[in-house]
Amino acid sequence: MILCIGLTPTVQRTMRFDRFVVGSVNRAAQTIVTASGKAVNVARVLTTLGANPRLFHAVGGDSGRFVTRTLAGEGLSVETFDAGDDAPTRTCTTLLFGDGTPTTELVEESKPLSEDIVTQIYRAADAQMLHARAVACSGSLTSGAPTDFYARFVKLGRERGVRVVVDAQGEPLRAALRERPFLVKPNRDEAAATLGLTLTGNADADARTAVNALLEAGAEWALVSMGKAGSLLGGRESAKRYRFTPPAVAAVNPIGSGDSLTAGLLYALVERGESVPDAATLGTACGAANALSLTSGVLRTTDVWALLPEVTVSVS
Ligand SMILES: Nc1ncnc2c1ncn2[C@@H]1O[C@H](COP(=O)(O)OP(=O)(O)OP(=O)(O)O)[C@@H](O)[C@H]1O
Ligand SMILES: [Mg+2]
Repeated sequence: MILCIGLTPTVQRTMRFDRFVVGSVNRAAQTIVTASGKAVNVARVLTTLGANPRLFHAVGGDSGRFVTRTLAGEGLSVETFDAGDDAPTRTCTTLLFGDGTPTTELVEESKPLSEDIVTQIYRAADAQMLHARAVACSGSLTSGAPTDFYARFVKLGRERGVRVVVDAQGEPLRAALRERPFLVKPNRDEAAATLGLTLTGNADADARTAVNALLEAGAEWALVSMGKAGSLLGGRESAKRYRFTPPAVAAVNPIGSGDSLTAGLLYALVERGESVPDAATLGTACGAANALSLTSGVLRTTDVWALLPEVTVSVS
């Protein structure tokens, strides 16, 4: 089993516009409402790939009931905690444009969770860790959660020999790094902001700086993603750096590609027993496959297997 832990699920409204004019009335050509959020996306992609994830999260209000119903309909295994009607699950909106305007995200912040709910999630996930092969901690924490929420799982994982992957930024990531996580997967901007790095604008040099800084800060492996340019992976045990480049795809919506990268990597590690560099290759195919679908954190396995041989890896 792979545990997927996150505190900020969302109702995801994806709206596609043929053209869009700020300050005018714009009618969507298509609107899709799904359940999403980083941990939800990781759990969904793992399920699609055929792994056995269990998602731990809290939802509230009617929007939370929608998330619970939707995920049940998709066959996800979820341990849901009820944050109550006072803490309704947020809605985030993705705007896709047919006129070349870049994809735009409108993010509603999550409501704070009570200390009681956070403790319940922590205890439940902690108990399940005994049966887990890996843990994914994904996304921002709400204001009710302690900033070491993920760091505690990293520490427990290290003590119990369970690999914990963290995709977060800011203090939750810094706290996790202090506990020496198995792997961290921020994107380049998140890594730079978290560690106060100055970026030069040279994508490869910046990724290298970020990977080195994350390893220095405590990660065993650091995978820094950079959208369609791919990602850079490094491990503490060796000076080798692995540069992954996805095939060029006709991207429809790349949001959730990072979560798909994490899920693909975990799937290959746990279910196929692959090394981290090999697992990141499958992860890269998953990131590209996600970009092909209209909604985030959704991919087709046929796309993954078709794209996998086209992923290039160079070692330096
Ligand atoms: N347009 C694209 N075409 C092909 N592959 C892509 C594209 N966008 C992303 N990917 C793949 O997915 C990986 C992760 O994407 P990205 O760096 O955008 O993650 P992210 O910023 O964490 O995204 P999110 O947090 O929305 O999931 C990239 O390293 C790349 O391999
Ligand atoms: Mg991300």
